[in-house]
Amino acid sequence: MTPVEYLRKTEKKRMDELFTFLSFPSVSAKSEHKKDIAACADWLTKHLKGIGFKTRLVKTKGHPLVFAEYKVDKKLPTVLYYGHYDVQPPEPLDLWKSEPFKPQIRGGAIYARGACDDKGQVFAHIKGLEAVIKATGSLPVNVKLLIEGEEETHSVNLPEFLRKSKKQLAADIVVVSDTSQFAKDQPAVTFGLRGIAVGEVFVYGPNRDVHSGTYGGTIANPINVLCDMVAQLHDKNGKVAVPGFYSKVKQITPWLRKQYKKLPSRDARLKQELKVPAVHGEKGYSSYERAWDRPTLDVNGITGGYQGEGAKTIIPAYASCKITMRLVPNQDPNDICRKLERYLKKIAPKSVRVKVDTGGGAKGVVVPTDGPWLDAAARAIEKGFGKKPVFMKEGGSIPIVVDFKEVLGLDTLLIGLGQNDDNIHSPNERFRVRDFERGCKTATFLPFELAEVKG
Ligand code: BES
Ligand code: MN
Ligand code: MN
Repeated sequence: MTPVEYLRKTEKKRMDELFTFLSFPSVSAKSEHKKDIAACADWLTKHLKGIGFKTRLVKTKGHPLVFAEYKVDKKLPTVLYYGHYDVQPPEPLDLWKSEPFKPQIRGGAIYARGACDDKGQVFAHIKGLEAVIKATGSLPVNVKLLIEGEEETHSVNLPEFLRKSKKQLAADIVVVSDTSQFAKDQPAVTFGLRGIAVGEVFVYGPNRDVHSGTYGGTIANPINVLCDMVAQLHDKNGKVAVPGFYSKVKQITPWLRKQYKKLPSRDARLKQELKVPAVHGEKGYSSYERAWDRPTLDVNGITGGYQGEGAKTIIPAYASCKITMRLVPNQDPNDICRKLERYLKKIAPKSVRVKVDTGGGAKGVVVPTDGPWLDAAARAIEKGFGKKPVFMKEGGSIPIVVDFKEVLGLDTLLIGLGQNDDNIHSPNERFRVRDFERGCKTATFLPFELAEVKG
């Protein structure tokens, strides 16, 4: 029996197991789900043990992480697989067509929170490795799995584990499936991710909500002020107006520009997929460049005042908003946070008190495109998907990838199994069964291809 035949034979069981994995509401952001997270980690540990891995459930200051190992031979390369079993909050619930933690297959796709980000993708590798073990009795490389429960909350405790466990995590290459394919039926290897920096702005006005007739016009309205400040975060060309924001940003090379010109335009796809009347972004850059190679600043949420039914004529006591900035390599999240803070304080009017919280972040990464590992990944993808992958970057962030390089000295292969329209972080998250199956298949070929690489 070949690994692929084993996959075929176990198709039903495999889907049942994925459904169980998806049923745990492992929402890392919310403390009410602490127990669900722990139960999910526990289930995963046992599942890996059942396949033949030596497992360890590692406690952290936050949510536990799952470490598993399959040692074959010291002389063979060691592959460190990373993924996350935590998921984003499912809200708004009323927009889900089926419950987020009761997985359901509709129209050829598995619907559940985490189906694609990242449980489904992690599981494809686990099942691929299982297939190889069951079909051949072993693995062609040594395998380590690191599956964490805090990726969606910035992997705050993982860097410390990396520093403490350098020996245990020693490997030759990292594999991560937590990104997307380029398009339907066009798989990809991702060689760059953006980083992230986070801030929150609070604007305080009167010591309580007050009547907007009695006081309106005599004191500043925190919401008006905040909106005015937010409006000053970009200039009319769509550039971030924070002084020094671009100081470390490298120009896009002519070579890269040329590569992107070969790709089908992203604008039409964006309009079609997201139903926006036009694309928007920094002047002078294409949509690929805007999403993959240029830093951004976005308000993620804005709060203040009365939003309930009917009218309430008040000047609110405060307003606040959350901000994230996507960074490109060389930009340092701490430096960017300081610059944002300084600018916001500078543009804040004297009529209000403004507090700025910043912190948390990750640098952007690029992986060398000219190594034997990337070629090996490309061969495995071609076998699994029946199509050669393209090389691309992505705009999202996986914080720990930078630490793999800086702490462990390892490059990462980013092999996206999902699609951009899989609704990750959105209602009705999904993972097409076809992509899951092709992912499992790719995962059976990958260890053999990586075994070919002489380090
Ligand atoms: N899987 C995503 C990262 C991603 C998304 C990469 C889309 C490429 C394309 C990951 O789970 C994620 O959501 N990361 C967060 C990181 C943040 C919470 C520090 C992100 O990018 O917002
Ligand atoms: Mn993810
Ligand atoms: Mn995510």
